[in-house]
Amino acid sequence: MMLTIPELLSREEVRDLRSLIDPGPWVDGNETSGHQSRLAKKNRQLQEGSDTARKASAIVAGALNRSPLFISAALPLKVFPPLFNRYEGGETFGAHVDNAIRRLGGTDFVIRSDLSCTVFLEEPDEYDGGALVVEDLFGEHRVKLPAGHAVLYPASSVHRVEPVTRGARIASFFWLQSMVRSDAEREELFRLDRAVQDLTARHGGGDATVIALTALYHNLLRRWADS
Ligand code: NI
Repeated sequence: MMLTIPELLSREEVRDLRSLIDPGPWVDGNETSGHQSRLAKKNRQLQEGSDTARKASAIVAGALNRSPLFISAALPLKVFPPLFNRYEGGETFGAHVDNAIRRLGGTDFVIRSDLSCTVFLEEPDEYDGGALVVEDLFGEHRVKLPAGHAVLYPASSVHRVEPVTRGARIASFFWLQSMVRSDAEREELFRLDRAVQDLTARHGGGDATVIALTALYHNLLRRWADS
């Protein structure tokens, strides 16, 4: 499932983040690449472990924790600290698949990447190219969202970033391990949760059908989740 999370970050948060990260330190993006990615990737990345990266990462992580849509869709168990990248002057990231296992450098924090997320930090009319293109069995999905919006997509998918031919594409990106490994099961839970929210808004939380469906949601989560 691919999902847009509109306004994950407010305009003020985007502005604050940009003034924090724009001066850098920016380094070669291949610091985080696996072997195959390395061949395809030409971009820069905010130096991991720098003070700036830690502060910026905390702002994005805080926004994720406050987003009911993100939590409902991702059912996060472990979230990799958000990273930041920039593409300009023709930089691009060719077709690749993200590594299944990610370790945070210098720690024993390890995740299985079930979902990938990109948070756009530049307005789409400020740069040409730079769409995230995600492939699935329905074909290719091109994603280029307003600053502050995020897209969540299966880490298992082949994806790429088109060359940026004008301006700069600046984004945060990260992976997460979901409590529910299967994309299909996670999607069913998300759809059920949305339906229950909708029904609750119309009939109130005390409605017998709302209670029955809420029980079903939790029982399915109990069956499918790891913690
Ligand atoms: Ni990727």
